[in-house]
Amino acid sequence: MPELAIGPRFARTLWANPACGDRDSWRKRMPEASASPKVTPAAGAAHPGPPPQAEDGGERVKPPRHVAIIMDGNGRWAKERGLPRGEGHRRGVEALRRTVRAVGELGIEILTIYSFSSENWSRPATEITDLMGLLRRFIRKDLAELDNNNVRVRIIGERRNLEPEIGRLLDEAEELTRNNSGLLLVVAFNYGGRQEIARAAERIASLVAAGAMKPGDVTAHVVMSHLDAPDLPDPDLVIRTSGEQRLSNFLLWQSAYSELVFVPTYWPDFDRAALDNAIAEYRRRERRFGGLRRVMAP
Ligand code: FPP
Repeated sequence: MPELAIGPRFARTLWANPACGDRDSWRKRMPEASASPKVTPAAGAAHPGPPPQAEDGGERVKPPRHVAIIMDGNGRWAKERGLPRGEGHRRGVEALRRTVRAVGELGIEILTIYSFSSENWSRPATEITDLMGLLRRFIRKDLAELDNNNVRVRIIGERRNLEPEIGRLLDEAEELTRNNSGLLLVVAFNYGGRQEIARAAERIASLVAAGAMKPGDVTAHVVMSHLDAPDLPDPDLVIRTSGEQRLSNFLLWQSAYSELVFVPTYWPDFDRAALDNAIAEYRRRERRFGGLRRVMAP
């Protein structure tokens, strides 16, 4: 298993890279984006130039504090190689290990990953068994290492009605790493954005029914404070791999003002170069949050 060494926090190593294009032009420009996994900092992205500058000479946008990823394309990656879909998912876990390590090196504070959606239950039973097996193995095999690297794990999504063993593993992952202060890895498991908002509405409705709150008290802030992880900042950047350009029920509430970056790379091929490209694209964006002036990321 590759080491998940999470390096010191440094946020000044992100440099502007060419924007994303189709999968082939991406590979031509950044051949390492499709090559085999690179796990050392030295094997990271090309650094073709300094970060974008604002007119006053300052950096245009700070690196993201919270990155969320829709890890898509495992099945197509496998199909293109004549392999079973499960192999694509297994290689997807390797890409996840690389990414956890890379975001730690980049000083990103929070990484949220879409590991299993509420709708993924509609997949064939064999694929669900594969995915559950990978989650079990990921927690059993990688948890100690994540813990050693000061990574804190949190889970969002519906916990009711899960297989008891899976529920216990998720609890264990959160419990063991509760006091860690490094990267926060948020695993969206059995997660759907609509379902999360419905759960918040259910909790608020109970408070109103109990007389603890009036209907007129229900504001956006109240709804937000009943979501699965209300203490976390919204993602600054949502990345989706595989070229698909949609959110697929991921962090619907929280991504209201997130920058969306769609990369053509299939998830098993996602590496440091692809991450650096996505972040460089994010840093070229102007965030206004509905106002007229550019707002610096926190
Ligand atoms: C989407 O690819 C990916 C998933 C539905 C699952 C993502 C899971 C992993 C990367 C591994 C398991 C995660 C953990 C935390 C152990 P797809 O199957 O929809 O690909 P396709 O669109 O090409 O068919």
